[in-house]
Amino acid sequence: MAKKDLDWGNLGFNYMPCDYSYVCNYKDGAWEEGGLTDDHTLTLSEDAGIFHYCQEIFEGLKAYTTEDGSIVCFRPDLNAQRMYDSAERLVMPPFPIDKFVDAVKQVVAANADWVPPFGSGATLYIRPFMVATGNVIGVKPADEYQFRIFVTPVGPYFKGGDTSVKLAIAKYDRAAPHGTGNIKAGLNYAMSLLAVTEAHNAGYAENMYLDSQSRTYVEETGGANIIFVDKQGNLVVPQSATDSILPSITRRSLVVVARDILGMNVIERPVKFEEVLAGDFVECGLCGTAAVISPVEKVEGDGVDVTFPDCVGTSGPVMKKLRETLTAIQTCAAEDPFGWVCKIS
Ligand code: PLP
Ligand code: COI
Repeated sequence: MAKKDLDWGNLGFNYMPCDYSYVCNYKDGAWEEGGLTDDHTLTLSEDAGIFHYCQEIFEGLKAYTTEDGSIVCFRPDLNAQRMYDSAERLVMPPFPIDKFVDAVKQVVAANADWVPPFGSGATLYIRPFMVATGNVIGVKPADEYQFRIFVTPVGPYFKGGDTSVKLAIAKYDRAAPHGTGNIKAGLNYAMSLLAVTEAHNAGYAENMYLDSQSRTYVEETGGANIIFVDKQGNLVVPQSATDSILPSITRRSLVVVARDILGMNVIERPVKFEEVLAGDFVECGLCGTAAVISPVEKVEGDGVDVTFPDCVGTSGPVMKKLRETLTAIQTCAAEDPFGWVCKIS
């Protein structure tokens, strides 16, 4: 086996079909055995539930090649659990946790040549998803589903990697209070497409969404959670009063890394946008599987122009340390004291 001959250092965040995907169907009230396929397409009834009532959920995680050539992924059990929770919220049959982790291992191992080499800056992005394939015409859950995983090698989500990005204050809402913002459902992303297109056209990488109930609190962006460092050096992690922030696995891991490895003081609490306006934060970062930790230098909107002084141009010292520590654990370049790394081969 030899790695594919790709320009690993210059990959964007794009889809490139690899050798195998994983597929498993749900029918007659049960998940079938499931397995690998080299068919990267789906053929569905025009009446499949996904097309009409949007029963779709997905996940995102990554596989890494370590310095000794092994292949590992990061906390797949948490993606499995989040997908389980997403399924329950959209009345889809939850995919069993162990079966999810096993499917991730199978599909990554089968595509080992596509896992970017250690130190290349690229990773293998793993995209599990589930769609309603059964027919529905009245508004109700379908009775047949397909769970699938494809993988694709990727570079940085935001162009320029560690170059700081600018955020726009979204004038649209992403998620309703107590709606579906806390699960990974495709419908949340459909809600964000106009906002992100307008943001891109205006030169911003993403939107900062405020809580849609009061427009008072910082929530997250369309594809990543937000973290701050205040003037006292605390890591400040926004919490949602209306349960409308996605529980990012990267963010939850960073909280532990900051507290237990870096000895930082971490404060998880609702964060008022007023605090951002008042210049209380010296660093800001976007964290997620795709984003890793991307520094934010500015937030702009109607009459709003806030700079995070320590993240101008590139990551400030805290974001840099957090990213280096987390990615070292993820690639086995540093010890994994928490048992987060899952060996594949
Ligand atoms: N928030 C949103 C809306 C996302 O789409 C993602 C990506 O998965 C995240 C946050 C980050 O979550 P995670 O760290 O689990 O990838
Ligand atoms: C991820 O980070 O895995 C996501 O799903 C975010 C998406 C915007 C690419």
